[in-house]
Amino acid sequence: MGEKKEVILSGIRPTGRLHYGNYFGAIRHFLRLQETDARCFYFIADYHALTTISEPENVFEETINMLRTYVACGLDPNRAIIYRQSDLPCTAELALLLGMITNIGHLERGTTYKDKLSKLQEDPKAEGNPLSYGLLGYPVLMAADILIVRADQVPVGDDQRQHVEMAIDIAQKFNHRFGETLHIPRAVGRDALRLPGLDGAEKMGKSEHNTLDLLDDRETVLKKIRAVETSTDPLPLHSDSDDPDVVIPQMPAGVGVLYRLLHLLAPEEVYRDFLGKYRRREKFYGMLKNTLAEHVSQFNAPIIERYNDPANSREFVLAFLRENARRVTPIALETVEACREAMGIGHSLYRA
Ligand code: TRP
Repeated sequence: MGEKKEVILSGIRPTGRLHYGNYFGAIRHFLRLQETDARCFYFIADYHALTTISEPENVFEETINMLRTYVACGLDPNRAIIYRQSDLPCTAELALLLGMITNIGHLERGTTYKDKLSKLQEDPKAEGNPLSYGLLGYPVLMAADILIVRADQVPVGDDQRQHVEMAIDIAQKFNHRFGETLHIPRAVGRDALRLPGLDGAEKMGKSEHNTLDLLDDRETVLKKIRAVETSTDPLPLHSDSDDPDVVIPQMPAGVGVLYRLLHLLAPEEVYRDFLGKYRRREKFYGMLKNTLAEHVSQFNAPIIERYNDPANSREFVLAFLRENARRVTPIALETVEACREAMGIGHSLYRA
């Protein structure tokens, strides 16, 4: 014992185009973790995507292009094991088994389900799927994802913490009823950055249509950044601190977004210099926007280039997905078989 590698797992929703919120919320953590000697599993939650998709649009093609973007950002399929959830269909079997010991009341307190329920109560004709069994069971499937590879750590954003905690509860309950079978992950503790949207809204998100995308070219970047609302009068800063978490919340929303991005992308002195201008109330928003657009374009340029690299092709992605599904399957089957055994139905008679 003691030498077992730390197992890290996280799931990625297949959303197609990736934006700065995705990058600073998740991707950069994935890049950092792949440099450690932990064993990293990142999978595309394509079964989960079906809980919100109203038309069978191209989850598959979106997945491929999203993975090409991940690779372009530096995620290395040789270091991190990247696979598709639906290529590990025994996850669904584990979810079914776990569902047998999960209380409906517990699931009804799940955030994804509750949000959908309250949206439907506000507007019963709201687009999208009705409340489904699949949506209610979202945390059970997520528990299966986590437990099937015996994860130690599950880095997620704040909005997913509750789901990870539910997975821990389900695993503990299972072990309590059927004996020590499932590996219990550690509770998550991470200060995920939530990037505001270009419209100043609290969150940058695809469905909010307020994103700055990693594949945006120079012209698009400039257009989007110039459109950020900065005409509100500057508010005074009640602090001498340069700490973005202290001063940015005191600025008008649009201006705050620009400073947040500048702090993430530009050298510290550039950020400080513009903070000084803000304090002195100089006329500088045009310059701030141009400077920021330049940094964003420079950040995007190599990503766009690697995205379009002929080696980073659809075939390349398909090849590593196939290979990784093959690598993860035996690990996953071991967990599922152990659970079947523990629950009394015994091993599958047809699997090797
Ligand atoms: N629900 C997560 C999200 O919306 C994605 C996800 C699915 C996940 N299964 C997971 C994350 C397991 C971590 C672990 O972002």
